[in-house]
This record gives sequence, structure tokens and C-alpha cells, in this order.
Amino acid sequence: MGLYSELKGKKAVVSGATAGIGKSIATLLAGEGVDVAAIGRDMDRGSAVEAKLREMGTSSFFARCEVSSPEEVDVAYKDAAARLGKVDILVNCAGGFPRPALVSEYSVADWDDLMNINLRSAFLLTRLALPGMVERKWGRVVNISSGAGLTVTYLTSAIYAAAKAGMLGFTRHVAAEVAPHGVTVNATAPGLTLSERIAKIYTPEMTADRAKHIPMGRLCEPEEQAYPVVFLCSDQAAYITGATINISGGMTSV
Ligand SMILES: NC(=O)c1ccc[n+]([C@@H]2O[C@H](COP(=O)([O-])OP(=O)(O)OC[C@H]3O[C@@H](n4cnc5c(N)ncnc54)[C@H](OP(=O)(O)O)[C@@H]3O)[C@@H](O)[C@H]2O)c1
Repeated sequence: MGLYSELKGKKAVVSGATAGIGKSIATLLAGEGVDVAAIGRDMDRGSAVEAKLREMGTSSFFARCEVSSPEEVDVAYKDAAARLGKVDILVNCAGGFPRPALVSEYSVADWDDLMNINLRSAFLLTRLALPGMVERKWGRVVNISSGAGLTVTYLTSAIYAAAKAGMLGFTRHVAAEVAPHGVTVNATAPGLTLSERIAKIYTPEMTADRAKHIPMGRLCEPEEQAYPVVFLCSDQAAYITGATINISGGMTSV
């Protein structure tokens, strides 16, 4: 049974829903009775997520899409909205970076790629989702930024940090634009979270070393990133907009 009965029957588009934090968000939303269009690229992971969300009794489906491509986002979003009938909730979670690197090691093409995947993708989906939400006077947008967008947590990628900081400015401004229309726009700033990607990169030794620098002494589980997102989608969070929730086990000022 879900936590927020008002979410039952709502329709969501979640990018980055085939793995990690986004998959947990899609799963918890499905647990609330939300039908989810789960965006990602990997067919096998996408089919597995679709099967899992359908087993939970929803009419969710995998929506294959490269989020940095305006053309693919356009087609995938319109197809998803037609299948869902409407879109009440948008979660912009797709993102990441391939490897830590120093800024002088990056090319201009790397800048464009990282910005497009982590920041422009949120713009592309948000601009399509908002008109319907505003018209129906109810909507929730949640952008998954990063601790790297708030402060220097540990060295990752300056371009990634710029994109994730940009996402927070985007969140605040769009929130103010649509606040009079019953639509909220918020962000979360996850700390290091044991998604599939991180579990692949981090050896047990690296994980133990990182944990020493986190006040709670451990990395976050994907579900712990997802619960606050579902809360932000609920009616209980109706007066929260333009906010960033720091979900970092106490890494607030490192
Ligand atoms: N994990 C952390 O420690 C952490 C910390 C701070 C912020 N975050 C942020 O949280 C979000 C999720 O991270 P995660 O660690 O859960 O990542 P993950 O396990 O690598 O999952 C990433 C998801 O995004 C999708 N995706 C990535 N690039 C895409 C693209 N170009 N087009 C379409 N889909 C794309 C992937 O889909 P496919 O694989 O199917 O393509 C997958 O579903 C990211 O925005 C990340 O920056 C994560």
C-alpha cells in the first residue's frame, strides 16, 4: 500500500528510470499506483523495469530515448503523453558522467555532451510537460541534481558540477514561473549513492574510504533518494517549490 492516496492514478514521466536512483523513484511511484513512462536507453534494462512496474499493477512502460537529443525527446515524450493520457509528474533523473577528470582534460565536445545529458535534457522534457500541468492546475516536477551542484564534495567533473548547479537555478526560476498554477518544481541534491553505476566504479575499499568522509558513515541507498522525491510529488508538499533537498547523510558544508 502507498503512502499518499492522492497519487493513485496519476501519470508520470521519469527519465533515467532504467537504473539506480531513477529506477527506485519509478518503483516507489508505481507503489503509489502511478503509471510511469520509464525513460532510458538500454533495451534489456528498460524491458525489465517495464515488467516489474506492470507486475505491481500499473500500466507503466519503457520509453526508449536519448535525453540529449531534442528530436528523440520530442517523439518519446509525445508518445508517452498519448499513452498515459496526461502527465502529472515529471522527474528529470537521467544524467551522470563517464569518469572523473580535470577540467583541462576535457574537450569542447565533452562540455556539450555533459551539459546536454545533465542539464539540457531537463529543459527539453520540462518545456513539454508544463503546459498540460498548468492547464490542469496540478503538476509536480522534480529535478535530480547533485551535491556537486551545491559545493565541492569530492573531485568529480567541473562540467558535471556546472550542469548540476545550473539545474538548481533552472529549478528555482521555473518554480516561480508556474507557482500560481498549482505546479511545483523542486530539486534534490543526492550525496554518493550506491546505484548500479557507482557500485561498478567503487571497490569495497573505495566505498569504505568515502564513507569515512560522510557524517552518517555510509553511502546512500537508491531508495533513500527516492522517498523524498515521492513526498515532493504528494499533496503534503504542495507549498514546497523552488527548493533543493540535500540528501547526503550530513554532507552539508564540506
Ligand atoms: N549515484 C550517485 O552517487 C549520485 C550522486 C549525485 C547525483 N546523482 C544523479 O542522480 C541521477 C541518477 O544517477 P545514478 O547513479 O542512479 O545513475 P545510473 O545508475 O547510471 O542510472 C542512470 C540512468 O540515467 C539514464 N541515462 C543516462 N544517460 C542517458 C541518456 N543520455 N539518455 C537517456 N537516459 C540516460 C540511464 O539509462 P540507460 O542506462 O538505460 O541508458 C539510467 O536509467 C543522475 O542524474 C546523477 O547525476 C547520482
